Amino acid sequence: MSIEILPASDALGAEVTGVDLNAPIDGDVAALLRRAWLDYQVLVFRGQDLDQHRQLAFTRLFGQPGGVFSPRPQRGLDGEPLEPGIMMVSNIRRDGKPLGLAHDGEMWFHSDMCYDENPHQATMLYAIEIPSRGGNTLFANMYAAYDRLAGTTRERIRGRTALQMHEYHRTDRPRARDDMSDVRHFSHPVAISHAETGRKALYVNRLMTARIDGMEEAESDALIDELLAASEDPGIVYEHVWRVGDLVMWDNRCVTHARTDFPETERRLLRRTTTEGSRPFETLAEYPAA
Ligand code: OGA
Ligand code: MN
Repeated sequence: MSIEILPASDALGAEVTGVDLNAPIDGDVAALLRRAWLDYQVLVFRGQDLDQHRQLAFTRLFGQPGGVFSPRPQRGLDGEPLEPGIMMVSNIRRDGKPLGLAHDGEMWFHSDMCYDENPHQATMLYAIEIPSRGGNTLFANMYAAYDRLAGTTRERIRGRTALQMHEYHRTDRPRARDDMSDVRHFSHPVAISHAETGRKALYVNRLMTARIDGMEEAESDALIDELLAASEDPGIVYEHVWRVGDLVMWDNRCVTHARTDFPETERRLLRRTTTEGSRPFETLAEYPAA
């Protein structure tokens, strides 16, 4: 079986064909997939038939599966106990309760766990039930966002950090407050260097970036608006229209993602895994030696 890697859009992303994620994947293929993932930032595998164990085995090819911090159910919809590291992303209620964090409708652009000191690196979503329309996932290329900034803006953000926080709202700007003890938050560089590719990526997003540290509020708001406009330009976005059986994986170090709205009367269910990551830095020189 020959493997093909076909670009999914002009912005980023590629579809990988000729790989059955249910079958064992050898070291050469794993290396090829990692290379493609670094090159394309988002990989799409269609027509897969994965249970939670195989999804975890695939996840392990890319790193140590990440823990789940959000409220999470102990059992899947089918009653099967969920393995550690498995989270369901769904609008479905069981006995009136969401299957974990409620994933209803639209969700703004964000980077998973950017509010943590050590954000998870990869996120993998596997589609089990998909609404008839909407609920697409948008992926924005944060290398391109950085590259598109005016030189003066790049100068302004150099050496700056931004406060990232997790408010659990899907479509609301976060606001820093005096007492942040009840909300997960961390300040990371406004632009980070990707530890593996060495490329600079913008690291701000609409859902979780509250302010640029050390700036007056008005100045910070204006700069964030400018950065968000660059980071959400349709020219750097790939929109994934889901089919049941899709496995999509992305790199949180250089991609933000969002979800389009979908009818609340329809069911949407995806299985999610991540890999552990480490703290991002502005320059490669700051990374601890491997
Ligand atoms: C996620 C997420 C988007 C979606 O699982 O981290 O943001 O389309 N999901 O459900
Ligand atoms: Mn997410």
